[in-house]
Amino acid sequence: MPLPTKEYAVTAIRQSYAVLQHEKNLSPENMQVTHSLTHLVRTLTQSHAPEVSSYLLQTPDLCSEREHLPGLCGLAECQMEKYWAKKLLMQKSTSLEEFWYHSEYCELCNAEASLLQGRTFDRISFLGAGSLPITAFLLARSLPKTQKVICVDNDEEACDLSQQLVRKLDLGQHIDVRCQDARHYVPAENELVICASLLQGHNDVYKQLKTHSCDLMVRNAEGVYQFLYKPAVLPTSGFSEVARTKLDFKRINTTHYFEQEGRTSGDAD
Ligand SMILES: C[S@@+](CC[C@H](N)C(=O)[O-])C[C@H]1O[C@@H](n2cnc3c(N)ncnc32)[C@H](O)[C@@H]1O
Repeated sequence: MPLPTKEYAVTAIRQSYAVLQHEKNLSPENMQVTHSLTHLVRTLTQSHAPEVSSYLLQTPDLCSEREHLPGLCGLAECQMEKYWAKKLLMQKSTSLEEFWYHSEYCELCNAEASLLQGRTFDRISFLGAGSLPITAFLLARSLPKTQKVICVDNDEEACDLSQQLVRKLDLGQHIDVRCQDARHYVPAENELVICASLLQGHNDVYKQLKTHSCDLMVRNAEGVYQFLYKPAVLPTSGFSEVARTKLDFKRINTTHYFEQEGRTSGDAD
């Protein structure tokens, strides 16, 4: 299939913005929203040719879309996770692979694992984990028996759904769900904290984390994916970036790995 031209990509971005702006129900129950977002994500994923991506990011014609589309996509993503969590809970045997973005999350988690370079942690937390914390599920399946992942979210319904999924997937031994604002989250000694791409209040989160002993992964949006997510606010003090994943059409987010300044890091090989 030929790659999208810049005109084709501009039309997809504009149409999605028009649909999401107009529709009240941004959940996948609304077929117009689902079609529009599926088309947008597919088009952006294929718009990696430098002349197309730099045009999309620089043209003043897409200023409003660049400013406002990520907020609408974020709302739609939260709705999509709730919809899928409920759908998976209703199934007799829960099959995470059915989730539309499952392979994308697998790619992202594999890329993030490669940033660890042999470092090990006593605990992992996932801030802004949502109703369907696929990252935590994927991590939990590969952890030694005693290790925990803490999923933090301040949305009660999201926490309730993810808690039910944890039980259904028999991952209670590995995953704790905490309903709280990530800004007040206190990590354990030698913890890896992962900040989800839709986390709010990054700076307050970093301020709190830097007084504890942890390393940090921050999910970001670069290139044309900035029509889907606002770029993340990255820490400017207390942590140093030591690695990052590359922008890749197989995964939407990029991830930055930060070591805490002055901390002797987890056992690197
Ligand atoms: C769509 S979701 C989950 C992200 C996704 N599962 C991922 O892997 O990146 C984003 C979630 O972040 C939560 N969230 C945003 N800011 C937060 C904060 N400061 N504290 C706790 N939860 C937060 C929202 O309630 C929402 O459920």
